[in-house]
Amino acid sequence: MAKLYKAMFNSMRLYSSNIGKVKSQKYVLTKYFQGEPKKSDFKIIEEELPELQDGEILTEAEYLSVDPYMRAYMIGYKLPTDMIGGQVAKIIASRHDKFPVGKYVAGSFGWRTHTICNPEAPPRLGFLPLTLLPDLSPHCVSLGLGILGMPGNTSYFGLKEICKPKPGETIAITGAAGAVGSHVGQIGKIMGCRVIGFAGTDEKCDYLTKELGFDYAFNYKTTNIKSALREAAPDRVDCYFDNVGGEISSTIMSHMNHYGRVAVCGSISSYNDATLPKVTILQPAIVFKELKVEGFLVNRWFNRWEEGINANLDWLKDGKLKYQEKVYHGFDNMVDALVGMLRGENTGKAVVKVK
Ligand SMILES: NC(=O)c1ccc[n+]([C@@H]2O[C@H](COP(=O)([O-])OP(=O)(O)OC[C@H]3O[C@@H](n4cnc5c(N)ncnc54)[C@H](OP(=O)(O)O)[C@@H]3O)[C@@H](O)[C@H]2O)c1
Repeated sequence: MAKLYKAMFNSMRLYSSNIGKVKSQKYVLTKYFQGEPKKSDFKIIEEELPELQDGEILTEAEYLSVDPYMRAYMIGYKLPTDMIGGQVAKIIASRHDKFPVGKYVAGSFGWRTHTICNPEAPPRLGFLPLTLLPDLSPHCVSLGLGILGMPGNTSYFGLKEICKPKPGETIAITGAAGAVGSHVGQIGKIMGCRVIGFAGTDEKCDYLTKELGFDYAFNYKTTNIKSALREAAPDRVDCYFDNVGGEISSTIMSHMNHYGRVAVCGSISSYNDATLPKVTILQPAIVFKELKVEGFLVNRWFNRWEEGINANLDWLKDGKLKYQEKVYHGFDNMVDALVGMLRGENTGKAVVKVK
């Protein structure tokens, strides 16, 4: 009898037919971005979701992510199109026994409040796998968008697999106080390296050196980059984790050691530009220093996704990995959050708390 009650209870928790038809709000991009994204580039519309089928879950978004790739990627979509993006969402109805009501998932659901999906369906091409979040308490579930999500894995795999730093080597990082940069620097320190960061304010630089253990951090807006490199890397740079592109990247690559490795992660310095900047020629540095320059997309390590999450979770639990979040509030404020992140308002990961 106890078993029967347990089974009945579980099936009630798994799926409640009382939930009725659910309406989701979502952002639809109707105009391509020109310069900074604008609210008028989007429409927020409401749609009624279908009945839940066997194997599916219904989720409600708690945190939505704003990421630089959103600015860069939308040009590739035919308009109008649903806005892309990651979110951490709570399962509020389920017909899948491995994804019970009350648990949280991180998924590429886009800028929307409610979603129905089959968690085991393969992700759309170029999108990230859906993950069931472990219990993160005392931390917030939003970490599933940051150090325990896509940016965390970008940092983990990008540094370890592309830069392959050895203890004692020097790593330079641009975009150093953001979600990826601040994480890369900490892994660099864990790996026994000298770490130099470049970020956009003095406060961010203080945070990097005083809180996160970077050896040096420079405000790229007010510092002569060549002098900074001479001071912080007298033996030159072995690994460069490039988040921003542009002239600063040319300067850093010209200050590298023989056989240096460059992980080209992003080029945020030009995402809002209609015409791309001209920068100092890089080929002489690449040739004469025999540099290895490799671009990457984090979904290359799709099949090792859990390895990265678990490594970062272990470092977090051991107190070796720290984080900050810039939390924006309200579904209506997605565009302000995206623009704020692109302007550098965030230290660490920028997220939006939906309610
Ligand atoms: N390859 C991949 O798979 C992958 C995955 C994730 C992210 N990325 C890339 O990694 C980079 C960092 O992403 P994130 O998510 O960690 O974002 P983030 O660093 O948390 O936020 C963006 C930061 O970029 C900086 N920034 C804005 N304009 C800049 C400019 N003109 N020059 C230099 N810095 C500028 C701002 O900080 P400041 O105050 O320092 O200017 C801002 O805080 C981006 O280029 C992104 O596209 C790539």
